[in-house]
Amino acid sequence: MKTISFLWNFRILFIVFFVFTSCDKNEDTDTTDLELYNLAKATEGFTWYKNSDALLDKSIGSGHSQPFLRTRYNSIAATQLDTLGKVIAGTDFTEGSLIVKELYGNQTTLEMYAILYKQSKNSNADANGWVWGYVNANGTVAEPSANKGAGCISCHGQSNNVDYTLMNKYFP
Ligand code: HEC
Repeated sequence: MKTISFLWNFRILFIVFFVFTSCDKNEDTDTTDLELYNLAKATEGFTWYKNSDALLDKSIGSGHSQPFLRTRYNSIAATQLDTLGKVIAGTDFTEGSLIVKELYGNQTTLEMYAILYKQSKNSNADANGWVWGYVNANGTVAEPSANKGAGCISCHGQSNNVDYTLMNKYFP
């Protein structure tokens, strides 16, 4: 009898543990998108591509509907830019690199952030360690990072990408 009730207790413990860990996972995913949004919204300490914050006309290769864009790099990612503000050919972005592409619907309306965040230990990171974020300017999620760049990598993996980034190719 004693052994049986011991086993039952063990089973209950196991179920409690299981429920806890699965909740944890969901929370982790939500935190990631919110975290990416907050990181993208902050503008301090970034360097603009080619050292310019001017809006660029979207390129022919763009997968987004917005006509204008501009791209910035946090201080860690910016170590992989040359003096002209272009990405160094063949570079691998280091852990902690954050790249934010701002997508504009017109000259003054910021509509979305497309985000690349090098965080290889994140449960949402792809095989290269990138977490792919896609959030609207109001904070709603356009594509969850839990998708691990499923809608992004096929295009970003094209020829002449630099560690999956494409600014150099389309804005040489
Ligand atoms: C059909 C191709 C295509 C798809 C799909 C696409 N992108 Fe891009 N992306 C581009 C191109 C081209 C650029 C270079 C700037 C431009 O012209 O928009 C770019 C630039 C970026 C940049 C700036 C850094 C760089 O140099 O690449 C980020 C960040 C980004 N995309 C994130 C995303 C995310 C996140 C997704 C998926 C939700 C995505 N992209 C889907 C084509 C694509």
